[in-house]
Amino acid sequence: MIKTKNISFSYTEFEKIDELDAGDRELLISAMKAVENAYAPYSQFKVGAAVRLESGTIIAGTNIENAAFPSGICAERSALAGAVSNHPGDIPVAMAIAANNTEGLTDDPVSPCGNCRQVIIEEEYRNGKPLRIILGGKRKIRIIEKATDLLPLCFTMKFPGFTPR
Ligand code: THU
Repeated sequence: MIKTKNISFSYTEFEKIDELDAGDRELLISAMKAVENAYAPYSQFKVGAAVRLESGTIIAGTNIENAAFPSGICAERSALAGAVSNHPGDIPVAMAIAANNTEGLTDDPVSPCGNCRQVIIEEEYRNGKPLRIILGGKRKIRIIEKATDLLPLCFTMKFPGFTPR
């Protein structure tokens, strides 16, 4: 029997950064500041990400490009790498992302690439805690309540039956 299924999710949209609660605003500002540290000489597209850990600590990351293009890393994975490497056991509960093109902060909020989504959801999945995503642009800000919403029908450790130890 053929069935048509539907997947949908809701997210919140804001017009201005002052509409966010204080914690989310602080996180998004951290991502916006991190943009300044990006190493993006090839694309001129500077991305900043800031991860909020359960303890309240914020860890920022930027994209780091490379002359050998595939060796570059996105801001989201850069931030998560810093968080996981330096704060084991302190669970990431939110991530804010912002990006500048040559004219400054992008009008529309930038969404994480597929590769980053896969890495972000691994964190959410292994910790069993929602990892909120805050996407900041000049004209709008989006909040997605759990990272997995951005990767429906995703591949996780459950398929091969891996048990992380
Ligand atoms: N980039 C990120 O850092 N995060 C994203 O979500 C999308 C793309 C980087 C990769 C590359 O350095 C530049 O933006 C242009 O694609």
